[in-house]
Amino acid sequence: MHGYVPGEQPRGGSVVKLNTNENPYPPSPAVVAAVAACASADLRLYPDPAATPLREAAARVYGVTPEQVLVGNGSDELLTMLMRTFVGADDVVVYPEPTYSLYDTLVTIQEGRSLTIPFPPDFTLPPAIADAEGRVLLICNPNSPSGTFTPIDVIADLAREWAGLVVVDEAYVDFAPASALSLLARHDNVLVLRTFSKSFSLAGMRIGLAFGHPDVIAQLGKVKDSYNVSRVATAAGVAALEDYEWMRRNTARIVATRQRLTDGLRALGYDVLPSAANFVLARRSGVVQASIQARLRERGVLVRHFATPRLADALRVSVGSDDEIDRLLAELRPLI
Ligand SMILES: Cc1ncc(COP(=O)(O)O)c(C=O)c1O
Repeated sequence: MHGYVPGEQPRGGSVVKLNTNENPYPPSPAVVAAVAACASADLRLYPDPAATPLREAAARVYGVTPEQVLVGNGSDELLTMLMRTFVGADDVVVYPEPTYSLYDTLVTIQEGRSLTIPFPPDFTLPPAIADAEGRVLLICNPNSPSGTFTPIDVIADLAREWAGLVVVDEAYVDFAPASALSLLARHDNVLVLRTFSKSFSLAGMRIGLAFGHPDVIAQLGKVKDSYNVSRVATAAGVAALEDYEWMRRNTARIVATRQRLTDGLRALGYDVLPSAANFVLARRSGVVQASIQARLRERGVLVRHFATPRLADALRVSVGSDDEIDRLLAELRPLI
C-alpha cells in the first residue's frame, strides 16, 4: 500500500530503490535457514494463534513478560488493531503532522476524528500536544518522513499527563539513540509498536510487535484474526531475535552511510534535518521536488516525494548501501 507502485520495474540496468525505507542488507543467514526449515509437511498445520515462541523470544530480548507482547502481521496490522479496539465514531486521535499517512486513513475508517498538531520547522514535538484531549495520542519516533527524534523524557512527561493511551510507533527505533520501551515499567498507558521490516531486513515477511500493559495487550488481542501470523513468520522472527547482533551490525553500517548521505545532499544545496532513522528528509526551500523525483526515476533511482503543501519541496531518501548512495548523488547532481 505504501510506496509500492505497480509496474515500478527496471528499465534496463538495476534500480536503486530508496523510496520505502527497506534495508539494503539481507536478513541473517539464520533467518533464511529457519524459513527454509518451515518448507515441510507441517505447513498443513495452523500456526500457534498467539505466536507464542516469538512472544517469548521478544520478552527475553526486550526485558518484558510474554503477556506484554502482541505479534502482528507487520506493524500496520497492529495499527489497525489499535484503531479497531480503541477508536469508535467521533473518538479523537491526536498526533503531530506531517507523519505516517496510515494514521489518518485508519482513523477515518473508524469514523473517528484526527486532531493533528503541526510540527514546527525543526520537527520538535509541538507543546500544544500536551493540552490536546483525545482517546489516543500517536507519536511516531523517529518520525516519518522527517527522521527526527523526540527525546524519551519528553514522551514520559506526556504519558504522565495524558489521560488516554500514548502509542509510540518505533518502526525506526533501531537507528535511533533510545526507545520508549523503558517507559512501560512506569506508565500503564504507553503502547510501543515495533516492526521487523526495517532494521531486521524482513519487510517481505510481515512481522510487527506491540509492547504494553498486559490489559491493553489483552484488549488488542480481542480483535486479532485467529491466525494472523504464519508459521514461517513466527520462525523467522524468533531466528532474527536470536541473531540480534546481525541486526545491530547492519544498523551501524546504515547509520554511518546516513551521515555520508546527509553530507552529500547538503553539498548539493539541500537542507537535511538530522535523522535518527534509515532515511533523511532533504529540502530545497520553495523548490518543488516532484520533477526531480520523476527524473531520478527515469534514471532508475526511486526516492519518495509527498505532494502536500508542507512537503512538496522535499524528498525522502532511504539510506541504502554506500554504492547506492553514490549512485543517487551522481544522478542527482546534474538535475539541480
Ligand atoms: C512509521 C511507520 N510505522 C509503521 C510502518 C509499517 O511497517 P510494517 O512493514 O511493519 O507494516 C511503517 C512502514 O513504512 C512506518 O513507516
